[in-house]
Amino acid sequence: MKRFMAHALIFDSGVGGLSVAAEIRRMLPLLRLSYIADDAFRPYGEKSEAALRARLPRLLSELCLMLDPDIVVIACNTASTTALPAIRDALSVPVVGVVPAIKPAAAKSRTKTIGVLGTPGTVRRKYVDELIHEFASDCHVILQGSVNLVDQAEAKLSGQAVNMDIIRGELSAMFSGRKGMDLDAVVLACTHFPLLREELKASVTQSVFWIDSGEAVAKRVKAVLSSLTDVTRLSPPQQDTAFLIGPNASPARAQAFAKFGFKRVVGLMPDKMPIGKI
Ligand code: DGL
Repeated sequence: MKRFMAHALIFDSGVGGLSVAAEIRRMLPLLRLSYIADDAFRPYGEKSEAALRARLPRLLSELCLMLDPDIVVIACNTASTTALPAIRDALSVPVVGVVPAIKPAAAKSRTKTIGVLGTPGTVRRKYVDELIHEFASDCHVILQGSVNLVDQAEAKLSGQAVNMDIIRGELSAMFSGRKGMDLDAVVLACTHFPLLREELKASVTQSVFWIDSGEAVAKRVKAVLSSLTDVTRLSPPQQDTAFLIGPNASPARAQAFAKFGFKRVVGLMPDKMPIGKI
């Protein structure tokens, strides 16, 4: 039987994209995955739109030259809601981005009160306003930006204890007040946050749907790849690699990547890459 190779590059500012990589792996177990964590520029949620638009198309062009993927997945809400058109223009392969799951959250909510929990950058984006206008105009929407939750997800995957006081503190602003008590669906509009799903659940008393976009991204990747190759006849990948831009991974962080199937972890020094100069 003829076998095909296919290779996806999954990109995020840190470990968050692993929540998306897990869904892609579940749906397409024979797809070769390379993972990029742009640790040198994290957190994206605090960077200006101009800074992200200047960096990401150039960085991804460089990474595509280096790794030659068939498809690129921007597994980051902040990057997707800011720079997806510019990234697409810069690359010659298909690019799949993350769309915050506002449409499914609005459909699931019975109280018609939903939360959007993302980075400070994502919750400010015009693109998110447009999604709310289009798909959640019948809902009361509470927007909440958090950098601390990104840090907690990074800490968790570096083997450190998650600080539950911080998690509760970040959620209290959303869940307090008359409207907050009605919240029954929260969009996890940052790919780091599904990595804290258990901690988030444990931090609130009411019953809430916590909705992320991982499965939707995986479905989109499958659809795009199916138009390029026969995804049922892919050769099993040799070894999936995670490339970390910045300081080398601690053993605990490398272990976390291994748990998500990235047995090889390679450090990329920004000053050795042309992108290091911007
Ligand atoms: N994981 C990212 C997102 O989905 C970004 C986290 C950050 O670097 O601020 O938005």
